Amino acid sequence: MQMDTPRLRLRRFTPGDAKDFVAYRSDPEVARFQDWEFPLSLESAQRLLRSYSRSDPGAPGWFPYAIEVKADGRVAGDVAVHRQRSVQEAELGFSLARDRQGQGYATEAVEAVLRALFAGGLHTATAECDVRNERSARLLERLGFARTGQRGVFARARRERVDMLMFSLPAERWNALDGQRESGA
Ligand SMILES: CC(C)(COP(=O)(O)OP(=O)(O)OC[C@H]1O[C@@H](n2cnc3c(N)ncnc32)[C@H](O)[C@@H]1OP(=O)(O)O)[C@@H](O)C(=O)NCCC(=O)NCCS
Repeated sequence: MQMDTPRLRLRRFTPGDAKDFVAYRSDPEVARFQDWEFPLSLESAQRLLRSYSRSDPGAPGWFPYAIEVKADGRVAGDVAVHRQRSVQEAELGFSLARDRQGQGYATEAVEAVLRALFAGGLHTATAECDVRNERSARLLERLGFARTGQRGVFARARRERVDMLMFSLPAERWNALDGQRESGA
């Protein structure tokens, strides 16, 4: 399940990643549009990472890939994949530590995960982000996702109603864009 890109290694989390994980998960800027509780204690992070280290990337449910930066061996963030039980559809989420943003790491990581998912027969990748989360929307559109709508949801951790943009990337579009990428168009 490990994937290498020029600058990154996408791999399973281990409890040893807890310090890096806590650093970005507890940053209010990174958590701003996420529905998770923070700050996260080191103990809770280790518990969470122990459960992630045992989860199956091919099984229904969420599987988070750690984004390791090869240059320093540290975890900069994650790409999480939510597989559905019966349909060939998966939802993606992603987060990057603040000091790792603006260097193309998230795009490189999400692209690698998408490539593996589509090579494995996925029909459609989907994603959602808060309407105010411009960086996230930019990343998705850069990779070929198109907006399919908007919906209001209740963010439990933040106890507020938020409007979410919905995105979709069907395999046909991914393959067409991939062909263009390969031919350098
Ligand atoms: C969403 C998130 C991962 C996007 O991070 P990001 O740094 O904008 O994305 P990337 O790492 O792909 O970097 C792309 C940016 O780096 C720039 N860049 C610099 N060097 C680059 C390089 N070598 N290659 C590619 N892009 C590069 C790009 O131009 C782009 O900037 P722009 O959007 O201003 O044009 C980040 O904002 C985040 O973690 N937010 C908090 C968590 C969150 O909200 N997640 C989404 C929930 S749906």
